[in-house]
Amino acid sequence: MIEYRASPDALAGLTEEDLAGGFFEGWPHPPTPAVHLAHLRGAEVAILAIDADTGAVVGFVTALGDGVLAAFIPLLEVLPAYRGRGIGGELVRRVLARLSDRYSVDLVCDPHLVPFYERLGGTRLDGVGWRNRAVLEP
Ligand SMILES: CC(C)(COP(=O)(O)OP(=O)(O)OC[C@H]1O[C@@H](n2cnc3c(N)ncnc32)[C@H](O)[C@@H]1OP(=O)(O)O)[C@@H](O)C(=O)NCCC(=O)NCCS
Repeated sequence: MIEYRASPDALAGLTEEDLAGGFFEGWPHPPTPAVHLAHLRGAEVAILAIDADTGAVVGFVTALGDGVLAAFIPLLEVLPAYRGRGIGGELVRRVLARLSDRYSVDLVCDPHLVPFYERLGGTRLDGVGWRNRAVLEP
């Protein structure tokens, strides 16, 4: 069974070890668990998916926002062994519910994931981004 826990309570007692299960799959220079933990703590909203049988963190989503008008969802990931069971969709539904008072909630994704987000009520937009990959290099 999967349990969902939201910040701030979800982050109390969360450690780097809890985040060492293989997140940031395929990233050439993945953020360390310490950076991942700092990201979760700095986010306006963080929601974790926990395997209730093992206590392991198996998925997460974050949102950064101004608290009144706009929010951005920078990261969503479910560990490979847990994908295809509705966890990613549930994380998105839960973070959107926390942001239901916002005019805009945006995220950037690869084209193949647009239908996944459209099924969750999102609308395809054009976008522009800046990436400073050097900050992740060792
Ligand atoms: C995207 C992701 C969070 C989905 O998590 P999940 O728990 O598998 O999501 P759900 O079970 O709710 O929904 C699965 C759906 O995601 C979509 N999806 C996931 N990966 C996909 C891919 N590579 N190509 C196309 N669709 C994909 C499909 O619609 C899939 O439906 P299906 O299982 O019927 O094929 C997960 O695949 C993941 O962590 N991927 C790597 C990180 C990532 O891409 N994050 C999104 C950043 S914008």
